[in-house]
Amino acid sequence: MPGLVIVGAQWGDEGKGKVTDLLAERADAIVRFQGGNNAGHTIVRDGEEFKFHLIPSGILYPDKACVIGNGVVLDPRILLGEIDGLRRRGVDMNNLKISANAHLIMPYHVLLDTAGEVKLGKLSLGTTRRGIGPCYADKALRLGIRVQDLLDEKILRAKIRTALEPKQQALRELSVKRRKLRKEAGEGSGVSEAEIEDAPDPRLDLHTMTEEHVNYGHRLEPHIADTSSLCWDVLDAGKTVIFEGAQATLLDLDHGTYPFVTSSNPIAGAATVGAGVGPTDIDEVWGVAKAYATRVGAGPFPTELEDATGRHLLEKGHEYGTTTGRERRCGWMDLVALRYAVRLNRMSSLAITKLDVLSGLDTLRVAVRYRSREGALLDTFPYHQSILHSATPEYEELPGFSADLQACRSADALPPEARSYLDYIAEFVGVPIRLVGVGPGRDQVVWLS
Ligand code: GDP
Ligand code: IMO
Ligand code: MG
Repeated sequence: MPGLVIVGAQWGDEGKGKVTDLLAERADAIVRFQGGNNAGHTIVRDGEEFKFHLIPSGILYPDKACVIGNGVVLDPRILLGEIDGLRRRGVDMNNLKISANAHLIMPYHVLLDTAGEVKLGKLSLGTTRRGIGPCYADKALRLGIRVQDLLDEKILRAKIRTALEPKQQALRELSVKRRKLRKEAGEGSGVSEAEIEDAPDPRLDLHTMTEEHVNYGHRLEPHIADTSSLCWDVLDAGKTVIFEGAQATLLDLDHGTYPFVTSSNPIAGAATVGAGVGPTDIDEVWGVAKAYATRVGAGPFPTELEDATGRHLLEKGHEYGTTTGRERRCGWMDLVALRYAVRLNRMSSLAITKLDVLSGLDTLRVAVRYRSREGALLDTFPYHQSILHSATPEYEELPGFSADLQACRSADALPPEARSYLDYIAEFVGVPIRLVGVGPGRDQVVWLS
């Protein structure tokens, strides 16, 4: 398995962290290739829970290189907080390597993300407000600040100055500063409109920001490296690199449910760009899907359930966002969407997580086609957003099971209905299921051949 990509097959939070941790046992390097701290990847080892936002999910192995690739957008304050937190828990951070070419999420990106959402009002995307979109936008505009810039104060200051000016203007227009100040000062505090307009936001001061980031640079310097060549060396030695995706296929900027997507490409093809390897370095693609579906944030979700079954999934599955704590929207497994994800990523294997959460439901439903508003049957994921927005799913019903799966460790131990459910999915999408999650713990897994 020299080059293996792990991707989310639905709308995120499928359990990529757990699957990465499991497969990393046989790998030599684990690389994040896109996204930023909008991600929240959970690992539960011996009852201890770890939540990673930027650090690859291989970090609990002291002997493996963990790489933040060039395709990631990185908030240095958050990353240092994560490093410090893990160190305090006794995790060895020496093998963490950060691409010098990764882009930085700056304070103005976070402010712009929030301002954009506030401005959209009811039409907001429900972003994580971590500055992801504005940071990738600056990268494309060639106004981005990269990790390597932290190491040269003069360059850093000049780049921040250039990048900052249009942001200040944009933020002024969105009058975020004014709203924020008013909130902090309190209505009736005597702060005049003029004072509010003119008050500089301390987070947007060029000198403060430069100084703060030079300091981050000093702290991150031991980790900064040429991470593409690190990957080449591992691959050329015939060893294994795992490319750990964040977010998921249906949140892909190009192929997801645009505009209700993230600002990067979470699909497998992006691993090459985001880590600096070639397409033929990829040998396997594992898709991770929950045994049902969830989505956090706005956007179309054909199989969404707003009834008792939806509540069952939310509560039994503890479906609250790892990053923002928001309730996740829950629904049935959507095989039309999953088959689309299988093809886009050219998946070689599937991992199905959270099968245990389905226990207690008499009947299980899986969407096998959609019906358009006009009544047409759709076997494939519609490319036109208006059609997807109004599509209703048609379901196949399968028998449910009531046994608690959390102690199952082999296919034979699973109830026959659970096995049939998995077989149905694998056959429908044409990809073998190799791993099944039956609980959050690392050992709560059934390997299938
Ligand atoms: P990721 O973003 O794809 O890494 O997924 P998250 O960590 O955001 O969300 C997955 C959640 O489900 C976490 O709380 C995991 O601990 C949990 N989890 C993972 N696999 C299973 C499983 O098989 N069963 C159950 N019950 N929980 C799981
Ligand atoms: P992991 O890696 C689930 C969603 C947000 C929002 C949209 C855009 O843990 O699976 P952004 O902040 O990226 O601009 O928000 O994408 N989103 C995620 N949903 N899991 C994630 O990451 C997500 N990262 C972003 O909720 O709808
Ligand atoms: Mg998550």
